[in-house]
Amino acid sequence: MADRRPILFFDSGMGGLSVLAPTAALLPRAPLVYVADSAGFPYGTRSETEIAARVPALLGRLAERYDPRLIVIACNTASTIALQHVRAALDVPIVGTVPAIKPAAEISRTRVIGVLGTQATVRQPYVDDLAARFAADCTVLRHGSAKLVDMAEAALAGERPSVAAVREALAGLTTQPGGDAIDVIVNACTHFPLLEEELAAATGALVRFVDGGPGIARRVAHLTEGQQWPEVPLPGRAVFTAANARTARLAPALARLGLEAVESL
Ligand code: SIN
Repeated sequence: MADRRPILFFDSGMGGLSVLAPTAALLPRAPLVYVADSAGFPYGTRSETEIAARVPALLGRLAERYDPRLIVIACNTASTIALQHVRAALDVPIVGTVPAIKPAAEISRTRVIGVLGTQATVRQPYVDDLAARFAADCTVLRHGSAKLVDMAEAALAGERPSVAAVREALAGLTTQPGGDAIDVIVNACTHFPLLEEELAAATGALVRFVDGGPGIARRVAHLTEGQQWPEVPLPGRAVFTAANARTARLAPALARLGLEAVESL
């Protein structure tokens, strides 16, 4: 019998769409629910204590309401801080999104890698651990930017930033000692792939960007292998924890990704 339970994607805002999109492409019949914690956004400037309490509590309510077969925490800040708390609290498979330092180290020629995330993500011990395990022979420079998160949210609502503004937001990474040798930047925030064109234009052809989206899509496909899907794809749902002026302007971008039903929690 067809299984209508969705895969639930969770983020503070709209960045998780950069993880949902490759998953939807790989699993076109999977029912999808995308939840943005618009009431709690942004996470990057919140404390560890707040995030470690808020994310498991919210996901508990969402799991009851939507009965997901799997949850993707499509947010590096929430994953690097709260992943173990969520796994301990919920009896649902959970896939987290953590900085793609391993693939970056695999392709870096200069052995200087940039990790671009939120302020909260780049200070996490989780990132120290990834750097020590997978990039021990690299210099790993980090920078947290709330401005880029805002720019990505605005871009999705139709206001693209200038390349000069993106370059300025990146300066905290590229002007660090050794920053001019960076040849791979880890998009350690799911919002940043939404600025792919501007980031590429701001850094030039010698710098490559990596993110976790494609790898997470493959992981979700692996974890759901052999499961049943509805015969006819169900319309995806976008859920906001609070409706506001920006969420109202997102409907066209959401519809392009097949998220047609927009609701508030
Ligand atoms: C934010 O809410 O600050 C962005 C969180 C993230 O995607 O890491």
